[in-house]
Amino acid sequence: MELNKALKNLRPSLIRMLAEEGKKYDNVISLAIGDPDIPTPRELVKEALKFAEEQHFGYATTALVEKSGTVAADFYNKTYNTNFTSGNILFNIGSSEALTSSIRTITNPGDEIIMFAPFYPGYCSIIELASGVPVVVDITENDFKITPQLIEKYLTPKTKAIIFCNPCNPTGLVLSYDEIKSICDFLKDKDLFIIADEIYCMINFSGFTSFVQFPEILDKLIVINSFSKSHSMTGWRNGYSIVPKELKQYFSSTSSSTIATPATLSLVAGNIALEKYSDVSETAAIYKERAKVVTEALTKLGYKVIDSQGAFYLFADYRSISKKDSLAFALELVKQVQVSVVPGIAFGTEGYIRISLTVSNEKLLEAVERMSNYKEV
Ligand SMILES: Cc1ncc(COP(=O)(O)O)c(C=O)c1O
Repeated sequence: MELNKALKNLRPSLIRMLAEEGKKYDNVISLAIGDPDIPTPRELVKEALKFAEEQHFGYATTALVEKSGTVAADFYNKTYNTNFTSGNILFNIGSSEALTSSIRTITNPGDEIIMFAPFYPGYCSIIELASGVPVVVDITENDFKITPQLIEKYLTPKTKAIIFCNPCNPTGLVLSYDEIKSICDFLKDKDLFIIADEIYCMINFSGFTSFVQFPEILDKLIVINSFSKSHSMTGWRNGYSIVPKELKQYFSSTSSSTIATPATLSLVAGNIALEKYSDVSETAAIYKERAKVVTEALTKLGYKVIDSQGAFYLFADYRSISKKDSLAFALELVKQVQVSVVPGIAFGTEGYIRISLTVSNEKLLEAVERMSNYKEV
C-alpha cells in the first residue's frame, strides 16, 4: 500500500543523529540538542503539580482553554501594546503542533512556503507532509540579512506564506525593528501569510521586536510561540499560535482534528508561567554570558562565530579548521574529541556547525578545549 509520497523526501534528523552518535562514546559533551539545562522555575512546577493532585483533569475544558487564551492575550497586550483577545489565541501541543496545524490550515497542494537558510529543520517536513513546497532562500551570501529585495525574487503566484524564525535557530540573529518594518511594508499588500516563529523571543540579549507590533500585517500574521525554551518546559509540550480572529475557527478545526484538546496540565502550567514567571531575564543573561565566553574561545581557535543576539545557539564557520563537509566534520569531532555538535547542512547551510549552549560554562569551555585538539585527517 502506498504511503504519503512526501515521506520519501523526509530527511532523518541530523540533530538526533549526532546526539545518538555521541552516546557511543564515554564522556561525550553533547552540544547537539536544544533542550535547556536551566531548571523550570520550581514554584511553577510545584503549583502545577498541586493542581494535578487536587483535581481530576480530563480533556481541557472550554473554560480552561478560554482562560489560557486570555492569559496569553493579556501577556501580549502588556508586553507589545497589542489588542488581542482569547479569540486570537489557540493552544497547541508545543510549537511543533502549532506550526503543523497552522501550515495544514493554509496550504493547498503545490503551495509554496518561503523560508530562509539556515533554517529550523522542522519546517521542511511539516510543509512537505502538508503537500506544500518549501522554497529555501539562502541568506548566507547576503550577510544573513533578510530584505524585501531578496524576498521579492522568490515570490510567485503560488507563494502562500513566508516563515521568519526570530530570534533565529541556528544563528542566534534577531531582526531589528527597522528590518521587520521594511519587510512588513513590503508584504502588507501581498496575498500571503506571514508566519513568525518567535519561540525564542524571551531569550534575547539586547532587545526584541515582535511582528505583532506592526498592525498593517495583522490580517495575515500567524505567530508561533511556546514555553519550551523560555521556561525550560520542552517536555510539557505546550505552545500556542496567535492568528487573525476571523480565521481562528479554521485553525482550531485543524488542530482539534489532530489533538482533540491541548494538554490540560500543561495549559495550567503555561498560565502560571505567563502570569507569575514571565520575566526570564535571568535565564537570558545566563545564555548571553555563555554565548560571549564560547564565542571568544572559539574565535581564538580560528572559528568565525556569528555574533549571537538571542536564543541559545552559536553558528560557527569552521572552514579554516577543516575542509570536510559539515556532516563529516561533526562526525569526526565526536570521534576524535567526544564533542557532539550539529552539522550546518541540517539547517541547509554548509561550512558551519551549530553549538547548543545548554550545558554549563565549565562544560562548554571543556568542549572548546577538546575541540582545540582536533586534527584534520
Ligand atoms: C525555531 C523552532 N521552532 C519550533 C521548535 C519546536 O519546539 P516545541 O515544539 O518544543 O515548542 C523548535 C525546537 O527546537 C525551534 O527551535
